Amino acid sequence: MIDLIKTRRSVRKFRDTAVGDDELSAIIEAGMYAPSAGNEQAWQFVVLRGEALGEYLRLNGNVPRSAPAGILVCADRTREKYKGMNTAALDCAAATQNMLLAAHARGLGAVWTAVFDTAKDGVTALLGLPGGVEPFAFIPVGHYDGARGEVPERFDTSRIHYNKWQGARG
Ligand SMILES: Cc1cc2nc3c(=O)[nH]c(=O)nc-3n(C[C@H](O)[C@H](O)[C@H](O)COP(=O)(O)O)c2cc1C
Repeated sequence: MIDLIKTRRSVRKFRDTAVGDDELSAIIEAGMYAPSAGNEQAWQFVVLRGEALGEYLRLNGNVPRSAPAGILVCADRTREKYKGMNTAALDCAAATQNMLLAAHARGLGAVWTAVFDTAKDGVTALLGLPGGVEPFAFIPVGHYDGARGEVPERFDTSRIHYNKWQGARG
């Protein structure tokens, strides 16, 4: 597990090779095992391919264009446990990280991409999302094109504080 966590990298270049629905549902299943506030599981998932994927990319342009498929993670506010604490988004963040790790474990590349506020209404209309279901993050999934990327050194002891704050901000 620790090795998977460290070797996962954001993948933004993909080969022109299909990814099956079985692969995507295995990734989504891992998302559904994430912790969630009050176990409300305030998430929904929309798989995008083909024309729908193309339209999504037109609305939200920060996404690698070569992915054969992707998963839009949506916050389901109707299931949110503590509204003032934005727990639907927190649930979705936990699910998204599980999904990135599951893709990596299956030898697939993926990247967490933001859904811009300016694109949210358009995406909601495009996909016919019901009230209270908001786009949270989009995860393009595919086979790597090239290397996955080096494992960076990120362990930084200056960010760890024991019992009280120590030293300058790392
Ligand atoms: C909340 C969030 C939003 C992100 N949005 C984007 C994005 O819109 N486009 C993108 O290419 N990468 C995006 N990333 C991926 C980060 O750029 C990436 O995780 C970071 O550079 C560290 O690289 P690594 O994932 O390979 O460890 C996002 C990551 C997070 C957590």
